[in-house]
Amino acid sequence: MPAAAALEPAVESRFASDVRSGLSRGGQKELPSTYLYDALGSALFDAITFLPEYGLTRADSRLLAAHSETIVTAMRGPFFVAELGSGSGAKTRWILEAAARMGPVKYFPIDISPVALQNCGFVLGRIPQVQVTELQGEYMDGLAKAVGYRKPGEKLLLLFLGSTIGNFYLDAASNFLMRIRAQLAPGDGLLLGADLVKPLQQMLTAYDDPTGVTAAFNLNMLGRINRELGANFNLARFAHEARFNADASCIEMHLRATCRQRIYIRALDLHIEMKEGETIWTESSQKFRVEEIDSLASQTGFRMHSRWIDADWAFAESLMIAS
Ligand code: AVJ
Repeated sequence: MPAAAALEPAVESRFASDVRSGLSRGGQKELPSTYLYDALGSALFDAITFLPEYGLTRADSRLLAAHSETIVTAMRGPFFVAELGSGSGAKTRWILEAAARMGPVKYFPIDISPVALQNCGFVLGRIPQVQVTELQGEYMDGLAKAVGYRKPGEKLLLLFLGSTIGNFYLDAASNFLMRIRAQLAPGDGLLLGADLVKPLQQMLTAYDDPTGVTAAFNLNMLGRINRELGANFNLARFAHEARFNADASCIEMHLRATCRQRIYIRALDLHIEMKEGETIWTESSQKFRVEEIDSLASQTGFRMHSRWIDADWAFAESLMIAS
């Protein structure tokens, strides 16, 4: 007998309650994008980074490969490294190798996904002179722990790469950077990767690739609800959709019901009705202008040190110093 069903937990998990509130509301249904990244979703995202249409991750990597020496030198003195949402950690190698050329370096990857974190720790921990301490959990908790490891006279270089900041709306992004800044000391560095506005068609195919990997990544959100909450979503009755919201300057991913349907989520004892054509909004991915990044930095207690923009894909790496 399944123990979970017999026990009837009095408190719903965060996932369960977010699914309940996102799907039972009257207007636009929504599911928070963080839930795209279970083990399968993280693997699908990794696959996305290999798509020719999705240049974001390669641009991020190229910039780090080209400028990591300059970045670590800009820290002026001993520092340790922490990273928010390390994912597979592939891009971070460039920074750690550059840092390790100057001496031993401590690295604290922070990620919600234990699988991604393990892979990242395994791969990057093999770089000579690099000592990895994995911090599983949410960004702010992880950052607080990482800061606790600071030795006197050491600065922190915090990495927030891959335009993960783009999953926040502009005001939420500024709020988030402010909370980060509150944990830092003057002179600490924040290396922020942000995807920039580019021609419409390029943005759309990056989020709706002909191979269908992004569609699978998006649909997996419903698969996850089926697996973890005992729902009966029929994935064949939903279509992946990417659209550009010009007012908010972001790409939105939606799942569109292709027919009228009723879904039951057993763990929530919740019935959901969906009209034909109705959508569930699953992600917003902000596309920035450099001036917005500048004002984000100055509003939140940082001064801009350097910025690099990739020549082939509009993506910016910004090194800011806590003032
Ligand atoms: C990992 C949040 C940066 O927004 O481009 C990729 C996630 N979504 N394809 C992005 C994503 C669809 C990605 N981030």
